[in-house]
Amino acid sequence: MFFYMPVQVYAEKDCVRNHAKELCSFGKKALIVTGKSSAAKNGSLDDIRNALDAGGIGNAHFNEVEENPSVETVMRARDIGLKEGCDFVIGIGGGSPMDAAKAIAMMIRQKDADASVLFDSEASPATVPVVLVPTTCGTGSEVTGISVLTRHDLHTKMAIPHKIFAALALVDGKYMKGMPAHIFAETTMDAFAHLTESRINAKASDMSRMCVDAGLRLWLRSKDVLLGKREADETDFLNMLNASTMAGMAIAHTGTSLPHGLSYALTYNTRMPHGKACGYFLPGYLAEASKEDRDYVISTAGFSSVDDLALYYDMTCRKERVEEDILALSVDDLLHNPAKMASAPFAVDERMLRRIAGLS
Ligand SMILES: [Fe+2]
Repeated sequence: MFFYMPVQVYAEKDCVRNHAKELCSFGKKALIVTGKSSAAKNGSLDDIRNALDAGGIGNAHFNEVEENPSVETVMRARDIGLKEGCDFVIGIGGGSPMDAAKAIAMMIRQKDADASVLFDSEASPATVPVVLVPTTCGTGSEVTGISVLTRHDLHTKMAIPHKIFAALALVDGKYMKGMPAHIFAETTMDAFAHLTESRINAKASDMSRMCVDAGLRLWLRSKDVLLGKREADETDFLNMLNASTMAGMAIAHTGTSLPHGLSYALTYNTRMPHGKACGYFLPGYLAEASKEDRDYVISTAGFSSVDDLALYYDMTCRKERVEEDILALSVDDLLHNPAKMASAPFAVDERMLRRIAGLS
């Protein structure tokens, strides 16, 4: 059994302000990496800048990280970071800015290298320090070494082979206040998919299960807010964000499994958001799992049955009808991904994948 989680995590209200000293300890000038506007709207960008200003640390801001960030974006940000003399990187946002921040930190540190080192497993993974501030509750990227980038040259997205962990993660649910309801629902479903797929996984260990167990119990405490049964408060946002962070720690050790493997083609072909696409396949995956695993996930997350989970997915993520030929592409895609096929703790064949995808 192996457990490695090198990220210093503070998960609390006002943690950027409370830990401004640590934030300022990583260098003299930060490159702040965000998407277009959400970090400015949710207050996280101001908090970070105020903390840096108070500590006499300079900053430059790159706010052009797109959904599914590309290698080209990473290189553009690197050039700005070098020009500005930045010696550490702060990524704020969902998975896209955080994943991009890790790759940008590598390219700033390796200032004479070209983009090919990003995908060269023999290349040095050295980076300048990275600080991450998640503002959605899905990816868990703040505690994983994973950075997924779009390769326009290959018309796909893929994880770089280097494990790049943040030095510091500042996790504060207040930044999720005001987030559009559908993004809250979809990212929460992504976290639930990470928890489920890590628990029902060939690589699961007692320690990864510890993260899943704690994550599911937190997720349960606030899952009703997605049904509109009550208004989400700060505790709910922090519960879901902490559940997502724990799910990140779990998948850092196990990886994800069949629902994520099936989701990639669904997202690529229909643009269905990531968490919603993963959730689409979760009831089918649970139906194929052992009774013990299925009962554990269903009951720990507060559902009465797999059908009850399916109904929850319909109501929170607004399930869409997907054409059979698209689902068949998902199945075909996964059949060509042997590592993902082997991630399930049971034998998988095409017929089973078709059942999980709801195909006859
Ligand atoms: Fe995911």
